[in-house]
Amino acid sequence: MVADTRAINRQHQPLPDQGHHWLFGYGSLIYKADFPYFECRPAAIHGWKRRFWQGSHDHRGTPEAPGRVATLIEAPGVRCVGMAYRIPPEALGPLDLREKNGYLRLTTPLRFLDGGEGRGLVYIATADNPAFLGPAPIPEMARQIASCSGPSGPNSDYLIELARALRALGEEDRHVFALEEAIEEFFPHSTGVVRP
Ligand code: SIN
Repeated sequence: MVADTRAINRQHQPLPDQGHHWLFGYGSLIYKADFPYFECRPAAIHGWKRRFWQGSHDHRGTPEAPGRVATLIEAPGVRCVGMAYRIPPEALGPLDLREKNGYLRLTTPLRFLDGGEGRGLVYIATADNPAFLGPAPIPEMARQIASCSGPSGPNSDYLIELARALRALGEEDRHVFALEEAIEEFFPHSTGVVRP
């Protein structure tokens, strides 16, 4: 079911206004930074794992045929690598719009991979949002991703571009890479990964 978190996120008072905020991206925000930012730095947050468990009715699917996109699931001891952006506060309105289908804008500690720590914002679609799809076997999720498309393009592009971006960060994300491999059954050679 379609969600709209804009009103909740608008009320969420971000961190003290220093003229900028850090935003941690772990899904499309890693490879599609269509918002203003001052700088970006590879970073990680701890206690979360990336999973393709969130439905996309507005970007990579439709209300009739939702796609699957990334969210974060609590996982003690696990680290999730992504990209942190230092953004101006006025970027938040358009970001809230982009992430409105179930994502809450929360606050998190983050660690920069080149050293140092900070606090930042992160959009997480929790299991109680109406667009949440939850787990499914990898072949089933891959089939859904292969068949869905929405206003932002094919769902498979979301997955392939995310896998590529994680590889560029030197990050081995087994969930994402297993889905990427599974999708090659539907789109041979689409990922560009040479397998033994
Ligand atoms: C994110 O990338 O941080 C949130 C999920 C998405 O927009 O793909």
